Formats: sequence, structure tokens, C-alpha cells
Amino acid sequence: MEEVQASFSYKAHVLVLPFHGQGHMNPMLQFSKRLASKGIKITLAATLSATKNMPPQVGSISLEPIYDDLTHGGLDGADGLKGFIDRFQEIGSRNLRDLITKSQSSKYPIKCLVYDANLPWSLDVALGLGIMGAGFFTQSCATIATYVDMIEENSLESKKPLRSLEELGLVNMPDMGSSTGRYPSLMSFLLGHFDNIDKADWVLFNSFDKLEEEVVKNLMKLYEVRTIGPTLPSMYLDKRIEDDKDYGFNLYQSTGDTCINWLSTKERGSVVYVSFGSAARLSAEQMEEVAWALNESDANFLWVVRTSEENKLPSSFKEQISEKGLMVTWSPQLEVLSHEAVGCFVTHCGWNSTVEGVSLGVPMVAMPQFLDQFSDAKFVEEVWEIGVRPKGDDSTGLVSRKTIAECIKQVIQGERGEKIKRNASKWKQLARVALEEGGTSDRNIEEIVAKIVSN
Ligand code: UDX
Repeated sequence: MEEVQASFSYKAHVLVLPFHGQGHMNPMLQFSKRLASKGIKITLAATLSATKNMPPQVGSISLEPIYDDLTHGGLDGADGLKGFIDRFQEIGSRNLRDLITKSQSSKYPIKCLVYDANLPWSLDVALGLGIMGAGFFTQSCATIATYVDMIEENSLESKKPLRSLEELGLVNMPDMGSSTGRYPSLMSFLLGHFDNIDKADWVLFNSFDKLEEEVVKNLMKLYEVRTIGPTLPSMYLDKRIEDDKDYGFNLYQSTGDTCINWLSTKERGSVVYVSFGSAARLSAEQMEEVAWALNESDANFLWVVRTSEENKLPSSFKEQISEKGLMVTWSPQLEVLSHEAVGCFVTHCGWNSTVEGVSLGVPMVAMPQFLDQFSDAKFVEEVWEIGVRPKGDDSTGLVSRKTIAECIKQVIQGERGEKIKRNASKWKQLARVALEEGGTSDRNIEEIVAKIVSN
């Protein structure tokens, strides 16, 4: 009998290009795994510092450094974001062109580029070489809707409550306008994402339809919007993907099992997890208020303070915390949020952290610091009703220790806390359903894969 050689073949080859930043790499890696689970070969192209600790091939995902930020300078170079973006564009676009061109004569030519919306030039490279392009926003649909408003009004600092959200009967967002006005160069960079986005085959969001229903419908009138989230590993949601390993695609050193071992000594729902993400820098005054709020509260706490921020802690603080508190420089956030000991998430409301809190059903205390974090916080408190936002001082914005402690108490205990917990469970369930077979995000991913394959 003739022996049949089992041979696996991919349906198509997709190139994924995240921006350099934990809040960008995480969702795009997870989306890559989703595509890979549907038979797609993935090449993940990122900065050298993001890829250097990873094996060149993990499952059906190959890693390709696209820009050597160690030699040519990274985000924290003297010329800041602008210098980094310009160099990345100049060198990255050459490398991207080479990568796509080289693949054309291989068994699996690249058929589509999924690019981070922070790198709009890469869409031009892809379209110029005749392949498809999908923009990936790492912020919410609501945030993107507000940027579209700003472009229409030709104003970086919209004085009016932003139309797209107010018209929809959602929230009035004066904060958003005032925050964006504080960062004019960052805003013009963000608004530059829209210069060519109408040429993209799809505009993808780490969100799900129910989470931002009206906004998604509205944005669909402008772009081929598809929600493909939440982009947490499948093991936290639908559990349909076996390849759920942590690939170590991290810019920060993880603190290993320290957090989980410590959490395991604490009672269910008794721990407040505090993290302000990878970029926010609190003032020393604000750090002090958070520190004493945590120390004086009845709850246990696990607080992530990045190494670069540690000098802002009150001098005697670390010595004073008893076994009720643990401080780390980086945590395995998903493992932490999904631990039964965690009952509250004090967060800066970066979009990834917000989606992670929603998907894992953790009530939040929302302390936004800049840009989209304000609109995310509004949704947490007013639309999904899964948390509270402590009010800061009218002129300085400083949130006092008393206010923070009261908000934590409200979330963990009492009548409002019960309602918040019920809502958090509801949203957790809806997040899972979106990715289950036939769920809105699952259908969108299937549609994208089918179109790439047939193209
Ligand atoms: C940035 C912006 O701040 C945010 O507003 C924007 O939406 C995306 O880019 P960042 O500040 O890093 O992101 O926040 P966030 O979006 O929440 O992403 C942080 C990621 O790092 C999350 O996926 C989180 O799980 C992870 N993380 C954070 C850890 O794994 N460990 C930590 O200790 C802290």
C-alpha cells in the first residue's frame, strides 16, 4: 500500500505589523494567534528590541525584526516620538517592501498586511505592492469616532461635547477635548492615521459589537469597521485555541510567579490590583495619594510601579507596607485579573487594560491620565456601569487619598458595589460570547480570512 505523506498547508500568509509598545504588541499578537488558528501563516514584524528575546518561529508565527531600534534609536531617544516615527518610517518601509517582495516568490506569498494605525505609511507600501491592507486601532471605537469628529471640525481641541457620542445618546465628553488639547503634536500624529485609512480593506478594533454597539454602527458608515476582540488569549474566553502560550513578547521583565503565589494567600475578592499601564507617568503628589489610600484601606493591594516610577513613592512607604500589600515592577496582568482573590482594578483605563478588566469581569476604579483613557473611563462608569471614577481637584486634577479609598470601598462593598459586580459579570459573559463560534467577532474574523484566502 502506498504510504500517504501527511502534509500541512496554510490557507494564506498574512503579515502583522504592530507599533512598538506593550499596549500595541499585546492585542496584535493575540489577533495573530486567532488568524493562525484559522489556518493562516503569520509573519509578525516588530522592532528588534521587541523580538530579540523571542524564538524566530512560534507555532505558525514567524518573527521578523523590521526596525533596529537598538542601533537607530528607540522611542525614548532625544528626539522623542517624532524622531522615532520618522526613522521607523524611513528604514521600516524599505524592510517592509523587501519582506513582502521576497515572499512573492515563496510557497506562501504575503496576501495581506495588518498594520498598526500608528504606522499609516505601511498601508501605502502594501497597496503599492498589490496586497490587501487592514488597519488595526489599539484604542476604542468611541475614541476613534471622536478623532473623526475633530478632523471634520478641523479642531484639535473641540470645545463642544463630541458629536458622534452625544448624538448617539451616550456620554458628554468635555474631558476628552481638554485632554487632547494638551498634546497638540501627539494629536496631529494621531489624526494623521486617517489620511489614507479609507484605502484600507478593513479597519479593525480590539472591541466587540455589543460593547460599543451604537458607535460601531456609526463608524461603519465611514469605514469597513470590524470588531475582532477582545484580544485576550483564548484560554480566558472561548477556550477554542490550544496554542495559548505566553510568547514573552514583552518589553518589561515579568515578576514571574511572585504575584500569583502572593494572591493565592489572600481571600476571594479581597485584593485591589493597581496598575497604570506601560506609559502613564503620575506626579509624585498623585503617587503619594494612591500610596496612602492603599495603605489606609481595609483591602489588600497588589501595586505595579514601573522601575522608572519608583522614585516617586513616599520615602518610607515600602518599609511600612505589611503582608497586606505587594509591590512589583511589572505583573502578569491577565493572570492577576483572572485570579479569584482580585476584587477591584484601579486602572489608568488604557484601552487594553479596560478591555481586559471587562472581559475578566473585574470591577474598576477608573483613574485616567491622558487621551483615550478619559473616554474609556466614562464608558466604565456611565455606559457599562462596571466601576467608579474618583473626582479630582477642579484646578489641579489631583485625586485625594480619601476619594480613592472611598471609591475602592464603594466597588468592593455596599449596594453600588453589588450592582457593579452584577454588570461586570454580564459584560464578562458578553465578551466570551463575541468570540465563541458564530459570535460577532468570530464571524468578522472568519469573513476576513475567507476574503484574504479568495483574493
Ligand atoms: C497605551 C495607552 O496608554 C493607552 O491609552 C492606549 O489605549 C494604548 O496604548 P498602555 O498605557 O500601556 O497603552 O496601557 P494599556 O492599553 O492598558 O496596555 C498595557 C498592556 O500591558 C496591557 O495589555 C496589560 O495587560 C499589560 N500589562 C500592564 C502587563 O502585562 N503587566 C503590567 O504590570 C501592566
